[in-house]
Amino acid sequence: MTRAPSFQIQAFVALAFLFAVPGTQAATDSASDFAVIQKVLQHPRCQNCHIPGDAPLQFDEGRPHAQSVQRGPDGKGAPGLACSTCHGTKNLPASYGDHVPPGAPNWHLPPPDKKMVFINLGAHELCTRLKDTQQNNGKDLAALLEHVDHDQLVLWGWNPGQDRAPVPIAHADFVAAFKRWVDAGGPCPAS
Ligand code: HEC
Ligand code: HEC
Repeated sequence: MTRAPSFQIQAFVALAFLFAVPGTQAATDSASDFAVIQKVLQHPRCQNCHIPGDAPLQFDEGRPHAQSVQRGPDGKGAPGLACSTCHGTKNLPASYGDHVPPGAPNWHLPPPDKKMVFINLGAHELCTRLKDTQQNNGKDLAALLEHVDHDQLVLWGWNPGQDRAPVPIAHADFVAAFKRWVDAGGPCPAS
């Protein structure tokens, strides 16, 4: 009997914890899921194409693309210097050595009026832009999930060819975090 009050207090504290935490916990989970998403979107293998400028970037340090390559009117390169002049539909075999153009189907940049910028943005801004249907060809959250799960340019980030570093988070873990974030309604971090 003497132990009852303290047991009750413990039980009360435990219950209060259970009831108080879910909202906060969900917010924390979504924030950590978005942190994973941000880490992938802002990896060089992704952000080198998701840029505000008019030329793609190259290498981990994001140097402007050699040969004065330009985005062009539709994202597929300047007239006369299309991305497909050099970039094929798949990576070349290792026997070609380093510094050959990587490849994936339909290798190109987003068009100039919908640049889909990921580089150099804070979490809130990146999240808002990712979901902006004016910018992302009308993709809702489900369509964004489908894109990161199956798009060939996205998948290339895990198989970039030659000596390029792949995205360091497993694709399955990225998709799982993205799905949890979508299931939570795609909340954007406050800052
Ligand atoms: C070769 C350039 C290129 C690379 C590399 C690339 N993307 Fe993209 N990305 C595009 C293009 C182009 C689009 C526009 C959709 C289309 O036309 O296919 C796009 C669209 C997207 C979208 C939807 C746009 C939005 O704003 O909501 C997401 C998400 C995305 N890419 C994620 C990634 C991720 C993640 C990676 C790396 C693992 C990646 N991309 C690598 C070119 C690229
Ligand atoms: C004249 C040939 C040529 C053209 C045209 C060209 N590229 Fe490239 N690109 C290359 C080569 C070669 C590399 C590899 C450089 C290296 O690894 O040293 C490369 C690398 C890249 C990379 C770097 C990948 C990474 O993460 O480091 C991106 C992104 C890219 N190109 C996008 C494009 C886009 C988009 C276009 C069209 C707008 C385009 N390129 C047009 C030759 C070309």
